[in-house]
Amino acid sequence: MNSELFKDMTYGMYVVSSCDENKRVGCIINTATQITSNDPLISISLNKENYTNKVIKKTKRLALMILSEDASKEVISTFGYQSSKEEEKFKEGEYEIKENLPILKKGICGYMIAEVNKVLDCGTHDLFLCLIKKAEKVSKSFPMSYAYYHEVLKGASPKKAPTFIEEKRESDKPVYQCIICGHIYDDSKEPIAFEKLPDSWVCPTCKVGKRMFKRIDET
Ligand SMILES: Cc1cc2nc3c(=O)[nH]c(=O)nc-3n(C[C@H](O)[C@H](O)[C@H](O)COP(=O)(O)O)c2cc1C
Repeated sequence: MNSELFKDMTYGMYVVSSCDENKRVGCIINTATQITSNDPLISISLNKENYTNKVIKKTKRLALMILSEDASKEVISTFGYQSSKEEEKFKEGEYEIKENLPILKKGICGYMIAEVNKVLDCGTHDLFLCLIKKAEKVSKSFPMSYAYYHEVLKGASPKKAPTFIEEKRESDKPVYQCIICGHIYDDSKEPIAFEKLPDSWVCPTCKVGKRMFKRIDET
């Protein structure tokens, strides 16, 4: 199987959110697809280990926000690399509540409110079929594509994303990953080894220091 071909599949970038009593949760997904247009159904694929999955299974309600190209990288690092189990991802002043669900105020084209119709067990992930109850456009900004996230924002995909592809490596030099935003520092592709970078060096994507990088080529 040539897994390189999977990289040619195209997607959008979304934040899916839910709320259980007063606990707001949400995560980045790229796997939202419209299935039908009358009584519109969408599908989303959520890793079973994601806290958002557990809350949506329980509450059967969610909001799907379509990220725009002007969304901050911080939104992607917070919602895509941290867990709602430990983190309050919806920061004071940055979201509003619509139909009891948290919606980001900035960096989105709009949002949909949906109810879960069916959940299909797909092994590591669940596929949620959801009926759209409301859709509202909030800006004219251009929607962010998965390719834009990779090519312009230089973002990576974590292991829990269904579209994650393990890179085949030809070099045995160390590779480090930012635990906040997923930025990869591969010694074989950089002019200077990570260990030799000055202490003042910061992640080019989310600006955290060197100590937030962990070596990932050894496991
Ligand atoms: C670009 C990108 C795409 C992602 N796509 C998905 C996806 O489609 N489904 C999924 O379950 N997780 C996806 N993830 C991973 C989750 O966003 C991530 O595991 C998150 O930390 C889960 O948070 P939670 O525990 O609060 O639910 C993606 C992450 C990124 C950065």
